[in-house]
Amino acid sequence: MIIVVMGVSGSGKTTVGELLADRLGWEFADADEFHSAANVAKMRAGTPLTDADRESWLRGIAAWMDERIAAGKHGVVTCSALKRAYRDRLGRPDVQFVYLEGDRDLIARRMADRRGHFFPTRLLDSQFRELEPPGPDEQALTVSIADAPEETVQQIMDQLPAA
Ligand SMILES: Nc1ncnc2c1ncn2[C@@H]1O[C@H](COP(=O)(O)OP(=O)(O)OP(=O)(O)O)[C@@H](O)[C@H]1O
Ligand SMILES: [Mg+2]
Repeated sequence: MIIVVMGVSGSGKTTVGELLADRLGWEFADADEFHSAANVAKMRAGTPLTDADRESWLRGIAAWMDERIAAGKHGVVTCSALKRAYRDRLGRPDVQFVYLEGDRDLIARRMADRRGHFFPTRLLDSQFRELEPPGPDEQALTVSIADAPEETVQQIMDQLPAA
C-alpha cells in the first residue's frame, strides 16, 4: 500500500507523513523532492504553480509509487493533491489518500511559527481557493490536524485498512 498524505501548504504533510512512515516502518518521500528547479524558483518567488508546472511533478510522484507497488513495497508520500484532477492522476487500487484537515487561521499561525516570520497569506489563500476536498466517492481518510502530530498519526493508524 502507498499512503498519500495530502492537504494545503502548512497543513503538516511532511511532519505527519514522516512520523507515520516511521511508525509503520515504511519508506517516505516528500512531494517537494519531485519538483523541477524551475518550479522551486517559482515557489521561492511566491508565484503559484500552474497545472502545466505540476505535470512533471505529478509524473515523478506517480513513478515513485509505481516502482514501490511493482516491488510489493509499502510507502508514504506527501503531495498537496489539492485538485481532484491531481488525485485522479495519482489514484491506484493500492493508494490510500489521507487528507489533513485544518482551518485557515490555525494553519496560518503554524506557518508563521515555522518560518519565524509572517507567511504571505495570499499564498495560503490561493491554496484554499484551489483546494477541492476529497469527495465521499474518493474513499480518502480525513483527519484533523487540530491536535499534536502524534495524535493525527494515531488517528490515521486507527483508520487504516489492514495493510
Ligand atoms: N497536528 C499537527 N499536524 C501537523 N502539523 C502540525 C501539527 N501541530 C503542529 N504542527 C506544525 O505545523 C507545521 C506544519 O508544517 P509541515 O512542514 O509539516 O507542513 P506541510 O504540509 O509539509 O507544508 P508544505 O506544503 O509547505 O511542505 C510544522 O511546524 C508542524 O510542526
Ligand atoms: Mg512539506
